[in-house]
Amino acid sequence: MRSAKDFFVPLAVGAPAPLREIPSRPSRAIHFFDPSNAKMAAKIPGMVGKVDVLLGNLEDAIKVENKEAARNGLVEIATSTDFGPTQLWTRLNALDSPWFLDDISTLVAKIGDKLDVVMIPKVQGAEDIHYVDRLLAQLEAKAGLTRPILVHAILETARGMANVEQICGASPRMQGISLGPADLAADRRMKTTRVGGGHPGYLVRADAAKNDADTYDIHGERAVFQQDLWHYTIARMVDACAMHGMFAYYGPFGDITDVVACEDQFRNAFLLGCVGTWTLHPKQIEIANRVFSPDPKEVEHAYEVVEAMGDGSGAVMVDGKMEDDASCKQCQVVVTLAEQLAEVDPELKEKYAQAKAAAQQKGA
Ligand code: GLV
Ligand code: MG
Repeated sequence: MRSAKDFFVPLAVGAPAPLREIPSRPSRAIHFFDPSNAKMAAKIPGMVGKVDVLLGNLEDAIKVENKEAARNGLVEIATSTDFGPTQLWTRLNALDSPWFLDDISTLVAKIGDKLDVVMIPKVQGAEDIHYVDRLLAQLEAKAGLTRPILVHAILETARGMANVEQICGASPRMQGISLGPADLAADRRMKTTRVGGGHPGYLVRADAAKNDADTYDIHGERAVFQQDLWHYTIARMVDACAMHGMFAYYGPFGDITDVVACEDQFRNAFLLGCVGTWTLHPKQIEIANRVFSPDPKEVEHAYEVVEAMGDGSGAVMVDGKMEDDASCKQCQVVVTLAEQLAEVDPELKEKYAQAKAAAQQKGA
């Protein structure tokens, strides 16, 4: 057992001290790019400031013959780009792959000062995070880094799912968790054949109408409601993250053309507590930025409740509805998020300022 007092001691001599709190930086869209693809790489500097997170992907979707080119390409892009307000993340190859050790050693040594977060795929349990934690500390010390690199796990195995709370609590570096619906579905032996999203076969059906006293019209018209395959997983992931002061994310939505269903999945995740999602195509960035930013109408209501509640105790009526400590806390979550996003997004800044002014006018 490790003493709680040692938790914030660096795991290698000379490594930066672990953070006591994970910074809550906007990360509505984590935009994946292939650093081995020269055409894609050339577009990266132009995306700085337009997306919250740029992520150089080294794992799945990168062909074996391009693994080294992707790693070197990421070093090249990171070295030559000023990322300004945009975070730089990477998804490393899996811990049991032939590339992981070279990925992490090269990236920390060469661009460790630019990397905010490393995403670790197929995490199975706390032992995977302990390994990465110590290795990162050694590499950070060697590179002379002064700021710890944070760790993000992808939830994409049944064992990882069963251990999600331990994974989140395994290191002060743990920044967040993303759902990996494609690998998770395969590992769980789900019978889907797609990357994220719902499935028309996963449904509940309304009761059949009665024909007469004894028989039912089971083949007649009946309402059918598609259910969300990912509800349990996302809800559990959100609780594990909240419990450990970290952030939960939806993962990939593979049907790039179906922007409507993509928006629905993103919104469900947002409402359940996720702060962002992966984006695999530029058109998903606009969806993510919109969906993971609170609606100005909600922000207006939130400001109104916070204002009306004063010190936060007791109960008030706003628009005919009872509001109390608990609803005020929900409204504070929305207000805090709106104020954070206003700092990075001038369009939202204006909309949220108008929402605040309207709320103050109503309360006057
Ligand atoms: C992502 O990596 C997934 O497996 O869905
Ligand atoms: Mg995966």
